[in-house]
Amino acid sequence: MQAIIQDSFNGIEDLKIKEIADPKISPLSVLVETKYTPVLPYDWRTESGELQNIRPLRLPIIIGYGFGGIVKNVGSLRSSKLIGQKVIGASMSGSNSALIDSKIPPLLFKVPDKVDLSKATTIIGGADAALGIINKLQVKANEKILITGSSGGIGTYLIQLLKLKNVQVVALGHSSNLEFLKKIGADQVIDYSSNVLKQLLNHKDITQIVDTAGNINLLKIISEVFPDRRIFSIANDQFGQFIQPRIFPKDYENLLNMLSSGQLQAYIQNIFNFRDVRTAQALSKNHHSQGRILLSY
Ligand SMILES: NC(=O)c1ccc[n+]([C@@H]2O[C@H](COP(=O)([O-])OP(=O)(O)OC[C@H]3O[C@@H](n4cnc5c(N)ncnc54)[C@H](OP(=O)(O)O)[C@@H]3O)[C@@H](O)[C@H]2O)c1
Repeated sequence: MQAIIQDSFNGIEDLKIKEIADPKISPLSVLVETKYTPVLPYDWRTESGELQNIRPLRLPIIIGYGFGGIVKNVGSLRSSKLIGQKVIGASMSGSNSALIDSKIPPLLFKVPDKVDLSKATTIIGGADAALGIINKLQVKANEKILITGSSGGIGTYLIQLLKLKNVQVVALGHSSNLEFLKKIGADQVIDYSSNVLKQLLNHKDITQIVDTAGNINLLKIISEVFPDRRIFSIANDQFGQFIQPRIFPKDYENLLNMLSSGQLQAYIQNIFNFRDVRTAQALSKNHHSQGRILLSY
C-alpha cells in the first residue's frame, strides 16, 4: 500500500510517498480502507521536530493520526457487522496510508448514514478538541467568550458548540475571514490584523478567553486588556493556562449525531489528493484557514 512517510525532521518538503507492506490482520484488527485524513498543525509541527520535547519520536513513521474510511475486513475478535461500515477514528501508529489497522476498539466510531464521510473526518482533531476545551472550561450560559484561531479546524467547531450553550462569542480572525466567522455564528468579530487593542476595549465584558492560535504577541495584548480574566490555551504552553482537551468515546458519538441532525456544520477548506500532501500542509501552515483541509485516498 502507499503511505506518507516522515523519515527526518527537515519539515514538510522532506515528506515521502512510499510503497510499504499492507497491515497483517490480527484478532483485534479492523482493517479500514482510508478515504480521508485531516491535515493538522500537529502533522507539520511533528515534521519540523517542534514537538520532540513533548512527544519524542523515533523515525520513520507514517504521519497523522485521524482518518475516515470504510471497513474492509475484521479480525476474529471484532464484529463482522463492521464490514462495509463508514467509520472515523484515530490510529496511534499513523493514519496517512491507503489501509489502516485500527486495533483499539474505543478509537473507532461508526458514521451515521446521513453524514458525509469527509465531513465526519473533520471531527478528529477538530470538533473533538473543541468539545474537550468546553468540557474543561465549564462554560455557563450568558458568558461572553473570546476565541483566537476561530477560523481554524478547531475554532469553527468551538464557535458553534459555544453558541449551542447560549454563550456570546467574540471571534478574533484575519480581515479576510470576518464575514466567514459571522456566517458560522460569531456574535461579534475582531480583526487581528489591525489595532487589536483598540477593538478589544469595546468588549470589556468578556468573561473567559480561549486561545487556539498560540500567537504570543496577541496573547500579551489580550492579557493587557483583561488582566484578571482566565486565558486557556491549547496552542501555547508559555502563556495563560495550557490545557489538553478532555474527550471521551461517548463525546464522539454525540458529535457525529449533531452533524447528522444538522446542529453542527463541518467546514472543509479544500480536499487534496494524498500525493499532494506537501501542497496541502504548506497551505495549512502558511495561509489563512476556513475550516479543515483534508487529504483523499
Ligand atoms: N494541546 C492539545 O491537546 C491540542 C490539540 C489539538 C490542537 N492543538 C493545537 O491547536 C492549534 C489550532 O489547531 P487547529 O487544528 O484549529 O489549526 P488550524 O486549523 O490551522 O487553525 C489555526 C487558527 O489559528 C489562526 N492563526 C494562526 N496563526 C495565527 C497568528 N499568528 N495570529 C493569529 N491567529 C493565527 C488561524 O487564523 P488564519 O488562518 O485566519 O490566519 C486559524 O484560525 C494548533 O497549534 C494545534 O497544534 C493542541
